[in-house]
Amino acid sequence: MERLQKVIAHAGVASRRKAEELIIEGKVKVNGKTVRELGVKVTDSDTVEVNDVKIEREQKVYYLLYKPRGVISAVRDDKGRKVVTDFVYGVEERIYPVGRLDYDTSGLLLLTNDGEFSNLLTHPKYELDKTYVAKLKGIPTREQLRMLERGVMLEDGKTAPAKVKFNSGDRKKGKSIVQITIHEGRNRQVRRMFEAIGFPVDKLKREMFGTLSLHGLNAGEVRELTPHEVKQLRALAQTGK
Ligand code: URA
Repeated sequence: MERLQKVIAHAGVASRRKAEELIIEGKVKVNGKTVRELGVKVTDSDTVEVNDVKIEREQKVYYLLYKPRGVISAVRDDKGRKVVTDFVYGVEERIYPVGRLDYDTSGLLLLTNDGEFSNLLTHPKYELDKTYVAKLKGIPTREQLRMLERGVMLEDGKTAPAKVKFNSGDRKKGKSIVQITIHEGRNRQVRRMFEAIGFPVDKLKREMFGTLSLHGLNAGEVRELTPHEVKQLRALAQTGK
């Protein structure tokens, strides 16, 4: 559901302010009926007319980006730093990231103009499994990793159980690589979880989001999701995986 004035503005008919005026003036119809209140919300299947002309709704688009490190998960940045939409060329729809990855984190990030889809995937109640690979300073023991599996206390509460897999350790360099799967999406959560057991994260990459992986992409590359992938993600979110 989206506000009527927002839908009109997104269709390129008028600015949001002008759209509000058009509504108040009685020039907007929803499913054939004149609407004069500003609070009205519409779905994709509602017909919206402005001055008796049906508006074309923006097509929903879905992209998967392999976000490089050193990029902001936003559509613009006041300080002129690179943002995730800089990597998606020739797309006219107003896409934005689904959730976020830290500036220093690389990996899988979805971009869309579908607000409902984005809300579904980031809603705390439905959050999907996300798998990260962390390069750590130091080599944790099996017992320390078990603490992450059970949940650790952070300043915003205890984390939900996680799946953790030790990939490799280098005693000479004092570094290790650990894979972790979580379904929550708190700010800097993975970094904070490893810090909580005494192992700062050197590098972090998100490798999977629900059923999606980075397979076939290099950093900075992007591809469209297939309709099947979109459906599958929606279904996963709704069943709480
Ligand atoms: N956890 C983090 O610490 N950083 C991210 O970007 C994502 C998850």
